[in-house]
Amino acid sequence: MRVLLFSTALLACAAATRLLDNNLVYRSPFLDDVSLAHDTPAIQARHVEHVRRQMEDAGSFDDQHYPTFYGADFGNASIYFYCTTPFIWTGGINFTHSGAGDPFDTSILLWTRAVPVSPSGTHQLPDQSVPVCVAYKISTSSTLSGKVADSGQAFTSYDVDFTVKVEANGLNPDTDYHFQFSDCSNPSSVSPIGKTRTMPNPNTPANQVNNGKPLTLAVFSCSQFQAGWFNAYGFAAHNTSAQFFIHLGDYIYESLGNGAPIGRQTLGRELATIHDYRQRLNQYRTDTSLVFAHQNAPWITVWYVADNAWKAGTADSNDTTIGCSFSPSGACFTDRKLAAVRAYHEWMPIRQVDADDKFRIWRNFQMGKLLDLTMLDTRQYDRDLTDVYYNTEVVNTIAAFPNRSLMGAAQEKWFFNTLSESKDRGAVWRVVGQVLFIFLYAAHPIFLDLDAWDGYRANRLRVLDHLYNNKISNTVILAGDSHANWVSDLAHPNDSTTYNPLTGEGAIGVEFAGTAVTSGSSLGANIKPAAADAISRVLVESQSNLNLQWSEGSYRGFFTLTIDSHTMKATYYGMRNITFANLDGFATAEFEVKAGANKLSRPVGGGVVAIKAGALKSNGTN
Ligand SMILES: *[C@@H]1O[C@H](CO)[C@@H](O)[C@H](O)[C@H]1NC(C)=O
Ligand SMILES: *[C@@H]1O[C@H](CO)[C@@H](O)[C@H](O)[C@H]1NC(C)=O
Ligand SMILES: *[C@@H]1O[C@H](CO)[C@@H](O)[C@H](O)[C@H]1NC(C)=O
Ligand SMILES: *[C@@H]1O[C@H](CO)[C@@H](O)[C@H](O)[C@H]1NC(C)=O
Ligand SMILES: *[C@@H]1O[C@H](CO)[C@@H](O)[C@H](O)[C@H]1NC(C)=O
Ligand SMILES: *[C@@H]1O[C@H](CO)[C@@H](O)[C@H](O)[C@H]1NC(C)=O
Ligand SMILES: *[C@@H]1O[C@H](CO)[C@@H](O)[C@H](O)[C@H]1NC(C)=O
Repeated sequence: MRVLLFSTALLACAAATRLLDNNLVYRSPFLDDVSLAHDTPAIQARHVEHVRRQMEDAGSFDDQHYPTFYGADFGNASIYFYCTTPFIWTGGINFTHSGAGDPFDTSILLWTRAVPVSPSGTHQLPDQSVPVCVAYKISTSSTLSGKVADSGQAFTSYDVDFTVKVEANGLNPDTDYHFQFSDCSNPSSVSPIGKTRTMPNPNTPANQVNNGKPLTLAVFSCSQFQAGWFNAYGFAAHNTSAQFFIHLGDYIYESLGNGAPIGRQTLGRELATIHDYRQRLNQYRTDTSLVFAHQNAPWITVWYVADNAWKAGTADSNDTTIGCSFSPSGACFTDRKLAAVRAYHEWMPIRQVDADDKFRIWRNFQMGKLLDLTMLDTRQYDRDLTDVYYNTEVVNTIAAFPNRSLMGAAQEKWFFNTLSESKDRGAVWRVVGQVLFIFLYAAHPIFLDLDAWDGYRANRLRVLDHLYNNKISNTVILAGDSHANWVSDLAHPNDSTTYNPLTGEGAIGVEFAGTAVTSGSSLGANIKPAAADAISRVLVESQSNLNLQWSEGSYRGFFTLTIDSHTMKATYYGMRNITFANLDGFATAEFEVKAGANKLSRPVGGGVVAIKAGALKSNGTN
């Protein structure tokens, strides 16, 4: 194996961490808390010290060498170079993934994992004192031929689980791109080519976005490995024209479960430490549908930490002296949260949002004047006590308290400002990603969902009041988390005075809530379509669920939104069988919203003859 010296050799030692710093995963997940960043000068010093030992300490021995570590040969190195040019891994890289995310109009994050390969025929761990160097390039050409739009190099190492996240810059807005990573020491060793696209410029007129053709978003939530194969991701990537993949949360689960009967046993244990989270993310990313989906479109995601998390705990971890028993390692909620956040920033192509705000991932994407996509954190950020199963009664009694917040005061203020600014800048649509918003009540033993807005009723009223009082039109709320499909007009809960459920008059927008990619139905695990539809019928006909127009709870799946300046079309997809890997899905129902109408078009879903699953509210004609 040969030693590769960098053309950057003449840089001063002080600048020597540049290639480490190009990899954004070394940064602190919280820009204002630099103590959580990796110390790249120290990592560089470690790499250099290793070279020094090879060069100098071993130099005086004639009869022996210090071991030359797999993949790095120090036999031919210049002492003058090693401060700026640590030797890079030359033993081969396994590029296990390609992905992109958080697109802006002229930049996008590119992501891969560059795992050093064990020397052939061995199971020895590759040397960890030598950085792995990857190069990247991005181009409008699908073969990456000709002039590239941007390119560069970055280091990774075991410190960050060999993940690589770089920002490609200088791109054209509203444009499809292809990108690829390669091994700096062997440019013929490459990652799969990834496909992605940039956002339109914020000022692009709505009818010119995507060259005047509708934009399509695919919307997912709740993908539990042990519950099934992630066919929904693959179907969206192979069988729809979705251009952006939106994930509303529960991308991974912390629990172990029993997936063995379907070949989906999770590794490790209930997640608590950084190792646990990395191992789980790694295992999820072996699902071929998920790998393909990341490789074929940019993703915009918000996170998980653990089941029913709130600002000081989760369903199974309290920040109290008795609260750590869930974890074999004794990790408490705060440890767990930090581990989860770090691994998330390593593995997901997500940007750091705000230099002054630690846990903030809520953020807004301006997609021309066509829409604002506002992603909220309605789980971790600053939310007051939620239902963690043993306190349901307590939370029910305080659910309407005005001082309870699902988002926290700072996020709530930002959200209202973002909605108003979106209107003021003339964006046609406001699309908001978060958890189930509508009021859902049933004598049936299933709901209320106190973990969603039903547990924060005054907060929900504040959101609705902001929309009504400021006459903010064309708001479309997306929701995950509930493991079933719910399509509703957006109006005050149970308000038959201003809102007419038959015509939709009086509503201020629409909610599209989507089912889980795999997680079990909230209407009953593995419930059959007929049984689920019977429950759905009761729910949509309930006098208490005035806003709810369609309910479906049997199929696992996702939905797409196809958006232009006049119409938004939501298509719900059900996957026929998630017990093995396949791409067998079908459209269960389709809904339309006209710009300015602030309600679902009637007849909802095209009427009962058009829907293929679930139950529609009867409207007197069906
Ligand atoms: C190192 O390698 C280069 C090119 O392969 C060769 O020209 C040079 O003589 C080598 N130097 C040493 C000290 O072996
Ligand atoms: C590369 O990684 C993949 C996925 O983890 C694995 O299946 C494969 O065996 C690895 N290849 C090598 C050469 O290590
Ligand atoms: C968290 O605290 C509650 C109330 O004290 C207790 O019932 C529950 O068992 C605790 N959970 C854990 C995982 O320790
Ligand atoms: C929140 O509001 C309720 C009802 O108004 C009140 O009883 C409670 O003391 C308040 N809690 C705090 C922390 O202010
Ligand atoms: C909703 O309103 C109806 C009619 O006023 C009433 O019968 C029902 O109890 C209300 N439901 C809830 C959950 O408040
Ligand atoms: C899903 O596929 C498995 C394996 O082929 C089969 O046993 C099962 O019956 C299928 N389930 C449904 C609902 O079709
Ligand atoms: C989805 O696309 C794949 C790959 O093109 C194809 O094999 C499969 O039949 C498609 N599924 C459906 C339901 O059309």
